Amino acid sequence: MKHISLRTGLLYFLCICFGISCGNHEVKTENPSAVGLQDINSITTELPELPGYQTFSMNCLTCHSASYISNQPNLPEKTWAAIVTKMQKTFGAPVSDSSAKEIIQYLAAIKGKS
Ligand code: HEC
Repeated sequence: MKHISLRTGLLYFLCICFGISCGNHEVKTENPSAVGLQDINSITTELPELPGYQTFSMNCLTCHSASYISNQPNLPEKTWAAIVTKMQKTFGAPVSDSSAKEIIQYLAAIKGKS
């Protein structure tokens, strides 16, 4: 009886060791996919540098990435204006009114819809 329980104990021990070493291999193979994710991010966050881009990036990229804009469909200027107002009033974005105008024109130029 004692013999059997020692054996099963050893088996469990080996299983645990095997499990841990498998886990380590998985961690190592995760690296290539992490690099892939970074590549996707750098593509989706690039917006065209048309007039207004500087004002936009200074005022709008402090809280979230540009993918919040690139993920939107083309929107009418009125909708962009409402979004910028929402950023100012609801989320407290410190955007001056003259900057807001410039940003709305920029957004309408890159993702506008008449
Ligand atoms: C003070 C922080 C802050 C700043 C600055 C800011 N935003 Fe946002 N923005 C947010 C938050 C918070 C959300 C909501 C995230 C969510 O709903 O998950 C958001 C969401 C958005 C969305 C997603 C759609 C929506 O209506 O929720 C867009 C588009 C957007 N912001 C554009 C802008 C633009 C353009 C500017 C520059 C004028 C800007 N943001 C500046 C905080 C900010």
